[in-house]
Amino acid sequence: MQRAHSEAPLQQEYFDRYSSGAPINWDIGRPQSAVERLVQSGFFWGRVLDVGCGFGDNARCIAQQSQPKSPIHVVATDFVPKAIEMAKERTNQSDFPNLTYMVLDALKEDEQDDLGQFDFVLDSCLFHGLSDENRQIYIRQLRRWLKPQGIHVQLAWSEKETLDRPRGPRKITKAELQQWFSVDNGWQIQTITDEIIDNIPALMGGRSIAYLSIIQKL
Ligand SMILES: C[S@@+](CC[C@H](N)C(=O)[O-])C[C@H]1O[C@@H](n2cnc3c(N)ncnc32)[C@H](O)[C@@H]1O
Repeated sequence: MQRAHSEAPLQQEYFDRYSSGAPINWDIGRPQSAVERLVQSGFFWGRVLDVGCGFGDNARCIAQQSQPKSPIHVVATDFVPKAIEMAKERTNQSDFPNLTYMVLDALKEDEQDDLGQFDFVLDSCLFHGLSDENRQIYIRQLRRWLKPQGIHVQLAWSEKETLDRPRGPRKITKAELQQWFSVDNGWQIQTITDEIIDNIPALMGGRSIAYLSIIQKL
């Protein structure tokens, strides 16, 4: 059974973490291996939104895959201004004319008008920190962000992870994914595969057990 979850401490923690100067669990200094493998397989093309981009490693990895025949433009967003500032510092913008950073709260439904629609929306480790209520808002946002037939890529803690953390990510079950992203709700799950989330070595030996879900908007 899932424990009761209040995301309030976690949301505040995001803001505190980026300004604390202490090591940040997800700052592994490289893209998530799951994302890197997708990029290597030529998975992404067109307009890509990275929601909760953190330091931007995944976004840069995807943007780098852009080819003249299959151009990619990445919009990388986070609701912590300091995160976006640090992501920009790590980006030589002249190498990434196809990457735009933006401070944006994914849950503010009235602030998204200028974003436009995307072929892909990547969520690497944001969704699993949300409350049930905010998950519903987020899924509505996903529908807004994605073009018809667009693809949502989600990397999140899975039910197979044995560790329980007092606050922070909640494990996501396959049954929940199938319920939220059902055909009746306008989604088609393409795959849910076992994956690993890479952490800094001090956190859980550097890896958590995850699902990588590939979900299409119908
Ligand atoms: C666990 S970190 C993952 C960062 C990055 N995606 C990665 O894989 O390294 C989650 C990120 O989501 C951001 N975030 C959390 N809630 C958000 C929201 N409502 N809107 C935008 N960003 C959010 C946090 O600030 C944090 O940078």
